[in-house]
Amino acid sequence: MSEAKKLYIKTYGCQMNVYDSERMAEAMGGAGYVETDTPDDADMILLNTCHIREKAAEKVYSELGRFKGLKDAKPDLKIGVAGCVAQAEGEEIMRRQPMVDLVVGPQSYHNLPALEAKARGGDKALDTQFPLDDKFETLRKRGGKAKRGPTAFLTVQEGCDKFCAFCVVPYTRGAEVSRPVSRIVDEAKELVERGVRELTLLGQNVNAYHGEGPDGNDWSLAQLIWELDKVDGLERIRFTTSHPNDMSDDLIAAHGECAKLMPYLHLPVQSGSDRILKRMNRSHTAESYIRLIERIRAARPDILLSGDFIVGFPEETEADFADTMALIEEVRYGYAYSFKYSTRPGTPAAERAQLDEEVKTERLHRLQALITEQQRAIQDAMVGREVGVLFEKAGRRDGQMVGKSDYLHAVHVSDSTVQSGDLRRVEIIESGANSLGGRVLPA
Ligand code: 5AD
Ligand code: SF4
Repeated sequence: MSEAKKLYIKTYGCQMNVYDSERMAEAMGGAGYVETDTPDDADMILLNTCHIREKAAEKVYSELGRFKGLKDAKPDLKIGVAGCVAQAEGEEIMRRQPMVDLVVGPQSYHNLPALEAKARGGDKALDTQFPLDDKFETLRKRGGKAKRGPTAFLTVQEGCDKFCAFCVVPYTRGAEVSRPVSRIVDEAKELVERGVRELTLLGQNVNAYHGEGPDGNDWSLAQLIWELDKVDGLERIRFTTSHPNDMSDDLIAAHGECAKLMPYLHLPVQSGSDRILKRMNRSHTAESYIRLIERIRAARPDILLSGDFIVGFPEETEADFADTMALIEEVRYGYAYSFKYSTRPGTPAAERAQLDEEVKTERLHRLQALITEQQRAIQDAMVGREVGVLFEKAGRRDGQMVGKSDYLHAVHVSDSTVQSGDLRRVEIIESGANSLGGRVLPA
């Protein structure tokens, strides 16, 4: 029997890319590849790229440059570019960088084995179509049955029709598409059989989910969550990323009523200034966002909120930025991702007058200091509380196990009775730099 070929995948960007990389590795498993964690002995290298912020293509070119020596030493090595940069600039990449054998956009991953075969035959292979068939279904059928860790991502929706003025997603991932409920439930059941106990439902605009239900009607994300709630062995459900305008009443209610739905919500607002929100084409105001948070907290008072923020959007004044800081003060976040605005060619905001880099940096620092303070206070307030923890792996110290609390805080315990995959009640006894320490309570 011939030895398995080795596949090295480097993943950039969001959790959707992490999920996609896992699916690509599984699909290539069917074509005789095993994954390796170093490019040095690989037969194929795949860069799963992200286009969301600046210098994405440049990063790809410099990363490719680093593989040149490997390719020279092993001409059989195939190099592929996947993900959103591939979608947006695939043909250009192939032209500029002849060592790239294969380019595959996010909608075409199910064609990867065929593209690999074409590349092996000595031809260049490119697929950046937006086909209508369900690539995940094809990928799932090819995927293995290997044991999985206790947590997994599951993509339920892709693409976005919102066209925020700064964002490339509607161009790189295309229009919103939702997978049918039955396929998601089947995939969830398979994952549970493979050892998964927590699922994070993924979509660029996940709460706009509107997949076909078993009754032939479009189902909402809340309906999908209630259907997954019935899956035995599945203990926890999360979802990300949401848009404020798609937080429907049934989804808010589910946060109060569905025990498997975890008390954590990532709800990006981007800015606290109505003037900037309008220019961002967000179609909500700071006030409507705050009212929404109040309704969510009424349904689930202990929910931990996280958000995304962009500072230094074109025309953002000091007063606009102060509005963002005021919004953060009012909401209080347990976690946040914050970015300096970066110009994305082809998006409306790219055409507008840009702010100085120093102004952006300084505002980002102030915003991050405030968020860190809130995050810290919320984490410290966990001490003395009892939370559920799903244990995932051994910790750095001997006899230590680490997992995630219901609120997504990392929690470590020293307890020899605990194993990966155990969901236990834990009393939080200390709050450290990046994690909480706890004591497992008797079952
Ligand atoms: N510049 C900075 N941040 C951006 N994001 C999206 N596009 C840009 C951009 N051009 C951020 C938003 C979004 C997150 C995924 O990335 O905050 O919610
Ligand atoms: Fe991008 Fe999210 Fe806006 Fe869609 S809703 S355009 S993915 S920032």
